[in-house]
Amino acid sequence: MNTKDLKAKVEKLKKEIEHHNTLYYVNAQPVITDKQYDDLYRELTDIEATYPEFVTPDSPTQRVGGIAISQFSTIQHRQPMMSLANTYNKNELAEFDQRVQKLLSTKDYTYVLEPKIDGLAVSLRYENGILISAATRGDGKTGDDITANIKTIHTIPLRLNTDTPPPIFEVRGEVYMPIKGFLEINKNREESGQEPFANPRNAAAGSLKLLDPRQVATRPLDAILYAVGETTDITILTHVDLINTLKKIGFRTAPLYWHCTSINEIIKRIDELEKNRHKFPFEMDGGVIKINERNLYDIIGATAKAPRWAIAYKYEPEQAETTVNQITVQVGRTGVLTPVAELEPVTVAGSTISRATLHNIEEIRRKDIRIGDHVLIEKAGEVIPAIVKVITKERTGKEIKFSMPSTCPVCGGDITQRENEVASRCENLQCPAQIKRWIQHFASRGAMNIDGLGSALVEQLVETKLISTPADLYDLTISQLSHLERMAEKSAKNLCTAITTSKKRDFWRVIFALGIRQVGARSAQLLEEHYEDIYALKNATSEELEQIPDIGPIVTKNIIDFLHTDRTINFLNKLQTAGVNLKRNTTTNVSERLAGQTFVLTGTLSSMTREQAAEQIRILGGKTSSSVSKNTTFLVAGENAGSKRTKAENLGIRIITEEDFIKQILNVNQQQQTKLPQKPIQGELF
Ligand code: IVH
Repeated sequence: MNTKDLKAKVEKLKKEIEHHNTLYYVNAQPVITDKQYDDLYRELTDIEATYPEFVTPDSPTQRVGGIAISQFSTIQHRQPMMSLANTYNKNELAEFDQRVQKLLSTKDYTYVLEPKIDGLAVSLRYENGILISAATRGDGKTGDDITANIKTIHTIPLRLNTDTPPPIFEVRGEVYMPIKGFLEINKNREESGQEPFANPRNAAAGSLKLLDPRQVATRPLDAILYAVGETTDITILTHVDLINTLKKIGFRTAPLYWHCTSINEIIKRIDELEKNRHKFPFEMDGGVIKINERNLYDIIGATAKAPRWAIAYKYEPEQAETTVNQITVQVGRTGVLTPVAELEPVTVAGSTISRATLHNIEEIRRKDIRIGDHVLIEKAGEVIPAIVKVITKERTGKEIKFSMPSTCPVCGGDITQRENEVASRCENLQCPAQIKRWIQHFASRGAMNIDGLGSALVEQLVETKLISTPADLYDLTISQLSHLERMAEKSAKNLCTAITTSKKRDFWRVIFALGIRQVGARSAQLLEEHYEDIYALKNATSEELEQIPDIGPIVTKNIIDFLHTDRTINFLNKLQTAGVNLKRNTTTNVSERLAGQTFVLTGTLSSMTREQAAEQIRILGGKTSSSVSKNTTFLVAGENAGSKRTKAENLGIRIITEEDFIKQILNVNQQQQTKLPQKPIQGELF
């Protein structure tokens, strides 16, 4: 194939993959098999590996291609990102309608009611159909440049699904963490002794603020789009049309909305929306009411902060009073003991609540929660019921202070509290509670991603002694599984396939899945970067490990302790015998790390000349250019960066500091030593 044909092929593949990506992730209606998808993807990566010049920022292979930075650069919104006026009171909705009527001097308009998603507002800019930049709301005028992080969200298209994209199309909406993913991530955090996120919104915010897109990619984020910012050459007459257009070109939109002819109808629908509140896969905290006819927006206008053509109706926080009957203790994967309040059952937000997590002993002390206390509970958002406070005036004096047990409530093993940790732990690695959680962690989405292996099933598998480590999963047969309770032959087959498929997971996922204390997905990725296989990792010394950024002495100790026990050695041998991938994927050549990326260097660099920096970029497969254009991936801004910086800001190009640049290059160079025989200017530079 000649170069022109190859380029056309790459374009075709990118389009096709994005299309199937939307069908799979957004519509949940794939029309090709996973294998067919993987083949398309492989075809594209193969061509890109041979012709790095064909790699473009909108390639599906670049979803997790960014680098870690030390701070976000900013993006100015061409149109301000407004907030919404809100109310908790239905009478005020009628007043809102009165104001609209007065402003328009007519009743000739309709409304749309849609869920108010509790996430973070973002603005995505597409130029000629390609995602160019993404920003947070910030102060409404200027937001953070989170392009690399946004690209990791599979339901956000990198290119619009249309052959006639508008030259400029800014689309706005909410990034959120689905409730299911939030629960899973919090479970993992608690297990590894980290503070859990308070609610899905905080989890989404914390994830979008991460400076390393590879870490963001391990967070289950999603996005729903509901508005536009700057657009050219496209007219969308109504909000309903907007929703349909967004859906058609590949975005996820609200799963439910109502088009109503009067505010009274809207008020009725608000109750219906509230009834459905808990059916949404995301947290929602009310409804948004918008005028449907978009041509009226300019006439109705806006205040300094919010448009007058829309209003949010918010639900009251869902709280109830009840009694703490008992405080029990659960044992997690790494033996962490979590106290749980057993409550007198009470209905909050339509569901019966009988337990609330107390996280750790510190939390119990801080809130002074005692057995027998009368407490105010809140469904913190939709998900975890939490105790807000003790109603102390109801105390009788009979309440009992809680203290952590001195032995494990499941296996009777010893309990310890490590220095610098709030958590108490059961130290018995054979504790059935720990084994079950370990297996669940191994199979979880962020780790080996074994679909269909839920907690109830793990419970059964361990109780019936079919398995006692995650490695035993690979010996399970369809017949063994189909004999279990609530397990039909088809689900048994599916599970076996899922287990087999997991053998080919990336090495970092396997490292994460091992369940080493405080080794999360990010640390696992760093370890994969430094060690090519499990044997190299096992032979790593403390000194070496501690030198890896972000792997401190405590994590190093955890890694060394874990990898050198007989139990782990047996476990790893079993994984190897089963054929689980225990080495880094070598098809990604480090020297192509920057393939498809174009750098512009400006200002004075303090630790090298620009020529040296350019040489480093070239060695790593990247390109440099002397001028900023929309094809620029990064502007490296040294001291006194001038007009190039301004131009980059205007174009929404990511700006990185010299420090970020060096970190990235250094990071790659460390691995490169073994791969590239000649290390041209490295010694001189660093
Ligand atoms: S419309 C110009 N629609 O709620 C106003 N906002 O509390 C554009 N939000 O800033 C916003 N769901 O971040 C709109 N269906 C929805 C929404 C929604 C959630 C957020 C948005 C907004 C905030 C106001």
